[in-house]
Amino acid sequence: MKFRCGQAWVAMGLAVIGALLSAAATDPGLPDGYWDQPQAMVGHAPHAWSKLEKNLRPEACGQCHIEQFNAWKNSLHAHAYSPGMIGQFPAMGVADSNDCLNCHAPLQVQKYRDIADMKGSLDLKLSHPEGFDRQADLGSKAMPLRHSGVSCAVCHVRGWQRFGPPPKASGAIGHQQRAVHGGFTATRAFEQSQFCASCHQFPDSMAIHGKPLENTLNEWKQSKFASRGITCQTCHMPDRRHEFRGIHDADMVKKGLTFELSQRRNSAVFAITSSWIGHAFPTYVTPEVVVEATAMDATGKVLHRWQWEIVREVIYDGGWKELRDTRLKAGEHREFIAAPLPERTARVRYRVRVMPDHFYQGVYQGLLFDDMAHVDRSAAKMHISHALERVRRDDYLLYEQTISIVDD
Ligand code: HEC
Ligand code: HEC
Ligand code: HEC
Ligand code: HEC
Ligand code: HEC
Repeated sequence: MKFRCGQAWVAMGLAVIGALLSAAATDPGLPDGYWDQPQAMVGHAPHAWSKLEKNLRPEACGQCHIEQFNAWKNSLHAHAYSPGMIGQFPAMGVADSNDCLNCHAPLQVQKYRDIADMKGSLDLKLSHPEGFDRQADLGSKAMPLRHSGVSCAVCHVRGWQRFGPPPKASGAIGHQQRAVHGGFTATRAFEQSQFCASCHQFPDSMAIHGKPLENTLNEWKQSKFASRGITCQTCHMPDRRHEFRGIHDADMVKKGLTFELSQRRNSAVFAITSSWIGHAFPTYVTPEVVVEATAMDATGKVLHRWQWEIVREVIYDGGWKELRDTRLKAGEHREFIAAPLPERTARVRYRVRVMPDHFYQGVYQGLLFDDMAHVDRSAAKMHISHALERVRRDDYLLYEQTISIVDD
C-alpha cells in the first residue's frame, strides 16, 4: 500500500518535472535586450496591415483591447509623463531628461531628439494635460506616443511584434498565429516579478546604506510571497486587470494591512501588521505614513499626543544619504503604544495619514520658491505648480478609530 502510494508520487513528480522541462524548453522568454533602448517600430510596418494595426497609441489598442485600456487609463502608468517630472527637464538638458524617460516613457520614439522637441512637448502638455483620449477616440487631438508614458507598447511591442502572456484558455507558449497584428508571442516572462524590475528595481551598484533607492524586487525576493509564487502581478494585476493600484489608492493600502486597537493596563496599543504587501511598506523613498495617538478626557480635551513616522528618509547632499528607515517589512507586526496615559484619560484616538508624494512636495516647493522664484512664467514653472497642487490633493486619512479607556 505504502509502496504503491510512493510509486504514484514518483510518477506524478516525474510528470510535473516533465511538464516543467518541456515548458522551459519551448518558452521563448523575452528577446535579448527587451528593456535596453526598446524599439517598438523598426523599419516599415508589414504593409498588409491596416492603419489601425500600425497605430501604436493606446487609443488604437483600446479599439480591440477595451478592458485593458479602461483599467490602464486610470493607472499611474498612463500618467508617468507627468508635470512634476517634465517641469524639471529644461534645467537638466536633453541627455539627462532622456535618462528619466528610460522608465517614464522608454520607447525610442518617446525620447527627445533635441531641445526644440522637448520644449514643444512641454507646451503641448500644458494645453493637453491628458496624454491620450480617454474615450479611445482616434480622430481627435492625437497626442504623440511619448505623452502616454508607460503605454501599452512599452510593455508589449518590439519591432512591430506583440508579446504577451500565455492565453488564459490554452496556456500555449511561443508564436501564436492570429488574423490581427501578425499574431503575438506568448511567454511566461509576463507572469514573473522580474518583468517589472527594469523600472522598479535600481541596480545594487546604486545602493545607499546597502539598499538602492528603489529596491522593490529585492524586498519581494526576501519576503515569504516569493517562495509562495505570489508575484507583483498577483497583487497589482489581479486576474490580469491592468489596474496597477499602489499607495495612491486607500483601498489598496487597506487590503495590505491589518489593524488592531486595544487597551493594555495603563496604555493604548495600536498594532499594524503588513499582511498582504510583497515588499516594505512603503517600498519607495517618496511616501510618508504618519501614525498619531491622542489621549482625551471625558469632555474631549486633549491631554497628550504621540506621533510615529513610517518612512525611508533620504536627503541629497552632493550624494544620497539615508537618515532613517522605519518602514514595515513584509509580514512585520508592529505596536504603536500610547503610554503612560495621563490621569483622567477617557479615550484615545488613533489616526493613520498617508502622504504618497511627501518627498516631492518638498522638491516642488524648493523649485518654485527658490530655483524658479525669479522666472516669470515658463512652461516648466507652470508644470511644477500643477504638480504641487496635485501632490497636495493626494494626501489622505487611511484609518481613524477611538478606544474608550476603562480603569483596571
Ligand atoms: C484590430 C483589433 C486589435 C488591435 C487594434 C490590437 N489588437 Fe492586440 N490582439 C487582438 C486580437 C484579436 C488578439 C488575439 C487574442 C486571442 O487570441 O486571445 C490580440 C492579442 C494581443 C496580445 C496577446 C494577448 C495574450 O493572450 O497574451 C497582446 C499583448 C496584444 N494583442 C497587444 C496589443 C497592443 C499593445 C495593441 C496596440 C499597440 C494591440 N494589441 C492592438 C486584436 C487587436
Ligand atoms: C529606474 C526607473 C526610473 C527612473 C530612471 C526615473 N524614475 Fe521617476 N519614478 C519611477 C517610479 C517607479 C516611480 C513611482 C514610484 C512609486 O510611486 O513607487 C517614479 C516617480 C516619479 C515622480 C513622482 C510621480 C510623478 O510622475 O509625478 C517624479 C516627479 C519622478 N519620478 C521624476 C523623475 C525624474 C526627474 C527622473 C530623472 C532624473 C526620474 N524620475 C527617473 C521610476 C524611475
Ligand atoms: C507595465 C507593463 C504593462 C502595460 C503598460 C500594459 N500591459 Fe498588458 N500586460 C502586462 C502583463 C505583465 C500582462 C500579464 C499579466 C499576468 O499574466 O498576470 C499583460 C497582459 C495583457 C493582455 C492579456 C490579457 C489576458 O487576459 O490574457 C493583453 C491583451 C494586454 N496585456 C494588453 C494591453 C494593452 C492594450 C495595454 C494598454 C492599454 C497594456 N496591455 C498595457 C503588462 C503591461
Ligand atoms: C502580496 C501583495 C503584493 C505583492 C506581491 C507586491 N505588492 Fe506592491 N503593493 C502592494 C500593496 C498592498 C501596496 C500598497 C501599500 C504600499 O504602498 O506598500 C503596494 C504598493 C506598491 C507600490 C507603491 C509605492 C510604494 O512606495 O509603496 C509599488 C511601486 C509597488 N507596490 C510595486 C510592486 C512590485 C514591482 C512588486 C513585485 C516586485 C510588488 N509591488 C509586489 C501589494 C503587493
Ligand atoms: C517601463 C517602466 C515600468 C515598468 C516595466 C513597470 N512600471 Fe510600474 N511604474 C513605472 C513608473 C514610471 C511609475 C510612476 C508613474 C508616475 O506616477 O509618474 C510606475 C508606477 C507603478 C505603480 C503605482 C505606484 C504608486 O505610487 O501608487 C504600481 C503599483 C506599479 N507601477 C506596478 C508595476 C508592476 C506590478 C509592474 C510589472 C508588471 C510594473 N509596474 C512595470 C514604470 C514602470
